[in-house]
Amino acid sequence: MIGESPQILELLKTIDKVAASDSTVLITGESGTGKELVAKEIHRRSKRNAGAFVPINCGAIPKELLESELFGYEKGAFTGANRTKPGRFELANGGTVFLDEIGDMSPDLQVKVLRVLQERAFERVGGIKEIQVDVRIVAATHRDLEEAVKEGHFREDLYYRLNVIPIRVPPLRERKSDIPLLIQHFIKVFSQRAGTPPMEIEELAMEAFMAYSWPGNVRELENVVERLIVLAEGNTISLEDLPERIKGALGKASKGQEGRETGSAKGPISIDQIAHLPLPENGVSLPEVIRKLEIGLINQALSRTNGVKSKAAQLLGLKRTTLVEKMRKFGML
Ligand SMILES: Nc1ncnc2c1ncn2[C@@H]1O[C@H](COP(=O)(O)OP(=O)(O)OP(=O)(O)O)[C@@H](O)[C@H]1O
Ligand SMILES: [Mg+2]
Repeated sequence: MIGESPQILELLKTIDKVAASDSTVLITGESGTGKELVAKEIHRRSKRNAGAFVPINCGAIPKELLESELFGYEKGAFTGANRTKPGRFELANGGTVFLDEIGDMSPDLQVKVLRVLQERAFERVGGIKEIQVDVRIVAATHRDLEEAVKEGHFREDLYYRLNVIPIRVPPLRERKSDIPLLIQHFIKVFSQRAGTPPMEIEELAMEAFMAYSWPGNVRELENVVERLIVLAEGNTISLEDLPERIKGALGKASKGQEGRETGSAKGPISIDQIAHLPLPENGVSLPEVIRKLEIGLINQALSRTNGVKSKAAQLLGLKRTTLVEKMRKFGML
C-alpha cells in the first residue's frame, strides 16, 4: 500500500493489529479507495497467509448464483448441477473470505451468512450435511450499512456481527499528500509495463492533480496515469495532457474557489445568477462554458453522493443513463 499521509500510516497500524487477530472486519469507504487492497493486506499479514484469500463480489453476482457460489452445491441440486461443487467458504478453509459489496446481499442470503459468522457452518445448496469451515471473514461496502439497517435493507444482527472491527478507508481528497507518491508509483508500474522510461511531471500538471477532488479516488488516479502513459508522446506530462476535469480544478483553485460548493465569500451563487455571468470583452466560447458548467456540477454531485451515480443523477435532474453518457463524453469514466 502506497502512502505516507497520517491517515495511511494510521490505517497500516490498524491493519497490523487486526491481522494478528481472527476477528471479523468490516471495511468501508468510497469506491476506488483501496478496500480490496486493505482486505488482502490483512490476510497477507495474518497467520492465515498460507491459506487462500478468496474474494467474492456480492453485488456483481445474481442472487441465485451467489448462493451456490458461496456455499457450493450438491449434484442434482438444480438443472445443470451435474456434479458436486464446493463453494467459496469451503475453498477458503484455513484462509480468508472477502465478501465485497456485502451491502448488496439479499435478505435470505444475509441469514445464511449470519450463520456462518456465528457457527462457521452451512449446508451446500441441495445438501443436508452440515459443513464446518475455519475461515476468517473480511467484508467491505461502499454503502452506509447503518443507514441500510435503519431502512430495513440490511439485517441488524448481521451488521453487528460484521462490524466487530470497523476500518474506514479515507477518500483521496482527505489525504492529498499521498497524491505525488501514488502518481510516482503508477508511473513506474505502467512505464515498466509499456517498456518506456518513466515520465516526468511538470509542476503545473502536479498542481492540477493536487487541486482536483478525485471522486473516483485511487482507481481514478490509476486510470488517468495509465492513459497518460499509453497516449504520451514526449517524456513529460504537462498540463495540456491532462483530462479537462483535472485541468479545470487548477483554474478553480487558483481563483480561490476550490471546494465542494461553488461558493465565494458572499455565499453560493444561485442558478439565476448564472444567467448574469459577465460576458468578457472578447466574448466566450459558449459550448466551452456549458461544458465547464456540466463537468463542474457533475463532479460536485458525484462527490456529494460518494460516487453513487443514481443519486448523483437525481441531484442533477437527469436519468442515470444520461449522466453516464455525459461522464463518458467528458472522459470521466
Ligand atoms: N494505497 C494504495 N497504494 C497503491 N495502490 C492502491 C492504493 N489504494 C488503491 N490502490 C489501487 O487502486 C485500485 C482500486 O483499489 P481497490 O480495488 O482496492 O478499491 P475498492 O475500494 O475496492 O474500490 P471499489 O469500491 O471500486 O471496488 C486498485 O488497482 C488498487 O491496487
Ligand atoms: Mg472493491
